[in-house]
Amino acid sequence: MIQSWIPFMPEQASTNAGRVDALYFYLVGVTAFFTALIYIVVTFFAIRYRRRTPHEIPRPVAGSMRLETVWSIIPFFISMSMFVWGTSLFFEQVKPPKNAMEVYVVGKQWMWKFQHTTGQREINELHVPIGRKVKLTMTTEDTIHDLFIPDFRIKMDVVPGRYSTEWFEATMPGRHHLFCAEYCGMNHSGMIGWVTVMEPTDFDDWLAGNANQQSPVAAGQQAFQQKLGCASCHGDNGQGGRGPSLINLVGSKVPLDNGQTVVADDAYIRESILFPRAKIVAGYQPIMPTFQGQITEEELLQLISYIKSLSPKTASTSALAPAHQPTPSPSPLSQANQSQVNKPQANTSPAAANANSGTKQQNSNAAGKKPPQPRGSPK
Ligand code: CUA
Repeated sequence: MIQSWIPFMPEQASTNAGRVDALYFYLVGVTAFFTALIYIVVTFFAIRYRRRTPHEIPRPVAGSMRLETVWSIIPFFISMSMFVWGTSLFFEQVKPPKNAMEVYVVGKQWMWKFQHTTGQREINELHVPIGRKVKLTMTTEDTIHDLFIPDFRIKMDVVPGRYSTEWFEATMPGRHHLFCAEYCGMNHSGMIGWVTVMEPTDFDDWLAGNANQQSPVAAGQQAFQQKLGCASCHGDNGQGGRGPSLINLVGSKVPLDNGQTVVADDAYIRESILFPRAKIVAGYQPIMPTFQGQITEEELLQLISYIKSLSPKTASTSALAPAHQPTPSPSPLSQANQSQVNKPQANTSPAAANANSGTKQQNSNAAGKKPPQPRGSPK
């Protein structure tokens, strides 16, 4: 690691680092100025107004409106400058740019697991290209951790059951230390690693050299179609069926059966997989079983990245391969089947809906598919 020109300061190795430091020095400067001012004035007054004779009675002090106003207004503007500056920097850091390359991060006692959209996995090591915006989508398998990369001036908690993000654009090749910055148990201090920033061509070589791993999208697709059986209700390619369509879902507004709408983001998709009854899409029955306890955080991220790839307009770019994987086109039989299945069951009585789904099951049987086996019973 390269030493910064100021001792104790980490290297400035991202586009944001200089601006974070500017705010930091401003805060230190203001604090140092007022600390000095207070000590000087206290010392001066202690000498100037010291008791000179044993029985001296001080003159009464009258209030000064002007003085009070001045020392209220000046600190007000100083603190507002910190607030506005800090907030604008904060919002810039929590809103990843649209064209960022995505990396998934899972924290675990006591290691950091990274996965690139092209499939490469790393533990306590992250390789990124220089001059490219990188977005980290992060969660944890157990307790709270916090991914801290001092040289990039980014630090964000990783919270169970949630996705947090942070992003950076590295400006300096080399190795940069990464830490867990939230006490997370016995080996917290060992939960460290390195970010290796490479020239783009070296990075491409590195990716190509580690290419024989399944991408998150492909892994998610496999889980969707086979392991978890999502396809039996949402269609082989997410086109919908007894469950709502997932095509172009991400970022869209979803109408719910209680009349509200929700924006389909990572958190919503995650909730719908783990707690399917929390939000029911308008026109559909609450028949989806929960997948809580049957799916790991990594699989969830893979599933979400597959669902994202079904929304090509909003999907962020991956490092090499397009996010959308080619999928086999459905057979004419299943297409005919789909045209029936696709109708949402709005405005049908429960009995009619049941009768309807009965015919569908027969149809899917006729098409040689396994009928869906929802674990939850329809209400
Ligand atoms: Cu993980 Cu501390």
